[in-house]
Amino acid sequence: MVKVTIDDVQIEVEPGTTILNAARQIGGDVVPPAMCFYSKLPGTGGKCRTCLVEVAAGSEKDPRPMPKLMASCSTQVMDGMIVKNKTSERVQEGRGGVVEFLLINHPLDCPVCDQAGECNLQDLGFQHGGAKTRYEEERRTYDPIDIGNKIKLHMNRCILCYRCVHVANQLTDSRVHGVLNRGEHAEISTYIENAIENDFSGNMIDVCPVGALTDKTFRFKSRVWFLKPMDVSCECTKCSGKAVAWMFGDEIYRVTARKDKYGEVEDQDGKTGWICNDCRFEKKDPAKWSIEGPRKINRHSVISQGHYQSPRGNSQKKIN
Ligand code: SF4
Ligand code: SF4
Ligand code: FES
Repeated sequence: MVKVTIDDVQIEVEPGTTILNAARQIGGDVVPPAMCFYSKLPGTGGKCRTCLVEVAAGSEKDPRPMPKLMASCSTQVMDGMIVKNKTSERVQEGRGGVVEFLLINHPLDCPVCDQAGECNLQDLGFQHGGAKTRYEEERRTYDPIDIGNKIKLHMNRCILCYRCVHVANQLTDSRVHGVLNRGEHAEISTYIENAIENDFSGNMIDVCPVGALTDKTFRFKSRVWFLKPMDVSCECTKCSGKAVAWMFGDEIYRVTARKDKYGEVEDQDGKTGWICNDCRFEKKDPAKWSIEGPRKINRHSVISQGHYQSPRGNSQKKIN
């Protein structure tokens, strides 16, 4: 085991653990944000730079600080390493720069974007974003395109995190996907269209950290904070059948996989709980599910706003 100190909290972790995963073992606000790393998708990380941290001492043997901020999702811990995240001004400033960069071409779509209320970029913009843009050039724009008959791609909102490419990579036998072009012209496009026939392609929507890939069966139907997320399950022959139904009264508006506090799909029965397209897109009839109960949502999340216990002890606030 190796010892690492992150924001003055010491922890022992397995050799080879990344700084981000060590921080996740500590938990709380020492955990850096991560827009491209996804623990359930091998090979992700190293693209977005939101997880930058300061390494104040490289190791016990060589305690020199690392000169540049390091991507915590792809930097392994060393014995005696000292890392600063929330306690480092350089990190806060650097993260502000990364957010500014991510927002250069990002549209102000939040009022009409399906991801609003559960968007990592919104959270980052709120925490680190500037009030004004310094960018004077025109934003790059694309028309939304259909990726299969159930998924819509809004390339304008894409931050090129490559998560969806990794999902497609795990779903297809041959290389039919990827990022087209480079630099400012880089885009996720028709490459992934070819992966769409797969029964699990809808999981791209769940891994997308922004509102670039959206569920066409849910588009513009409701804001997520007006819905009640319920744990539901069904006997499915393709997937675990364990999902979250987002309900408005007795109607199911959308179905997603069950996600953890980092927005990643939870394990079900020892395997990543990806859900199949039938469960996601076709089962909107509550009779097809057995409802286990309300999903636990962080009380600070906007999704909880209609579901909290009032101080007077009244039961759940009615929102529909
Ligand atoms: S992806 Fe997030 S930040 Fe971008 S428009 Fe949608 S909700 Fe807003
Ligand atoms: S579409 Fe979403 S998941 Fe795919 S690269 Fe863009 S932001 Fe990432
Ligand atoms: S999460 Fe580390 S670079 Fe994106």
